[in-house]
Amino acid sequence: MSANECMSGGQDTSADEALQEIVIEEKLGKIDNILIVLSGKGGVGKSTVAANLTLSLSLQGFRIGILDVDIHGPSIPKLLGIDGQRMGVKDDELLPIECYANVNVVSMALLLQSTEQAVIWRGPMKAKMIRELIQHVAWGKLDYLVVDCPPGTGDEPLSVAQILGKKARAVIVTTPQEVAIIDV
Ligand SMILES: Nc1ncnc2c1ncn2[C@@H]1O[C@H](COP(=O)(O)OP(=O)(O)O)[C@@H](O)[C@H]1O
Ligand SMILES: [Mg+2]
Repeated sequence: MSANECMSGGQDTSADEALQEIVIEEKLGKIDNILIVLSGKGGVGKSTVAANLTLSLSLQGFRIGILDVDIHGPSIPKLLGIDGQRMGVKDDELLPIECYANVNVVSMALLLQSTEQAVIWRGPMKAKMIRELIQHVAWGKLDYLVVDCPPGTGDEPLSVAQILGKKARAVIVTTPQEVAIIDV
């Protein structure tokens, strides 16, 4: 089974949705802390903060997952030096790419055929993808899940907050410029 086939296609029925909720609850039950990295503006250093937060937690001996939900501009694989790698599938689950000590990376960039490929999706498709990335990934037991978001309060951060919000904490990144601060 390929990574793409691992994601369910078609219309979700209410029974599918209920099952999805149960699977997501079970996955989240094994994650002790969730940190969502957000900002009002782009280019302020979110991905850099998310990558460094992940590495500093891993250096302290924690087991970390990093979920890059910047679907149109994923940069975590590049920052962690694993761009070009592709996620595998085992027992119908997607396997994060492991790097450094106990760092498990999931990103749209690790699913695409090529780094040149553009993702042209609207809101509902992105929301579904984010749900599937939580549901279908073999995260295992994690001390921390760090989520790197695209800027603003659009589809991706909203979906992340909706799915993970109950137990998540936010790290808001900004720069000192007035135009960056007014968007925070
Ligand atoms: N503290 C910093 N000082 C200077 N440049 C930084 C800093 N943090 C990030 N950068 C640079 O700014 C650019 C955007 O960073 P990035 O983490 O991709 O931002 P975002 O994820 O918010 O779009 C990158 O070139 C990065 O190397
Ligand atoms: Mg970024």
